[in-house]
Amino acid sequence: MSRPPAPTDPSPSAAESGPGQSRNGHETPCESGRFPTALITGASPGIGAAFARRLAQQGSALILTARRKDRLEALAELLQHEYHIQVEVLDADLASPDGVNAAAQRLTAAPVDLLVNNAGLGIYRPLADTSEAKLMSRLQPNVVALARLTHAALPEMIRRGSGTVINVASGLAFNPSATRATPTNWTALTIQP
Ligand SMILES: NC(=O)c1ccc[n+]([C@@H]2O[C@H](COP(=O)([O-])OP(=O)(O)OC[C@H]3O[C@@H](n4cnc5c(N)ncnc54)[C@H](OP(=O)(O)O)[C@@H]3O)[C@@H](O)[C@H]2O)c1
Repeated sequence: MSRPPAPTDPSPSAAESGPGQSRNGHETPCESGRFPTALITGASPGIGAAFARRLAQQGSALILTARRKDRLEALAELLQHEYHIQVEVLDADLASPDGVNAAAQRLTAAPVDLLVNNAGLGIYRPLADTSEAKLMSRLQPNVVALARLTHAALPEMIRRGSGTVINVASGLAFNPSATRATPTNWTALTIQP
């Protein structure tokens, strides 16, 4: 898989202008809604794949991550064929420290313009009925990995004065429920990290 190019080098005034503000009359990727490079977690099916397709239509170079490499590679091949973009695949289990480290290192090695924290799964049962192992397997990707990857991506975004992080959460965070306690609690954390 080829590696997406590094983001455009910023002007010296980037740090002075602040996130989301125009520099020298030019739109930042955040303002234009077009991102030269983007990393999407949980990119194989569902919402993550929809993000990937939309960004590919706009010409973004993509880094797709999830656990199942075969599905990522199939999507990468499709997007490369249809939109002639660069796509890199990173198979990483964001429930494991090694997987989170791999994705975080990828973000610091070649920074991106957009990070989409999308990987996650819910448990639709009361917290008291959920095993500790299952609870941690959900909290790690949904909350810990989200914070780690954002932490890895932010310094370079701030230095450039441009960058976007999208955290995909759930409307359940606004609708507390005793029988859906676990997803509700952690999506609330996701919405207000
Ligand atoms: N669909 C909804 O109605 C809905 C509603 C509210 C919130 N959400 C949130 O939106 C996000 C995407 O939802 P979706 O419905 O598109 O989910 P989905 O189709 O089940 O996809 C989940 C994605 O996350 C990846 N993933 C799961 N566990 C992972 C792990 N431990 N490490 C790395 N990747 C992991 C999966 O790929 P692998 O299995 O290959 O790793 C997959 O790419 C989730 O965060 C979900 O909580 C969805």
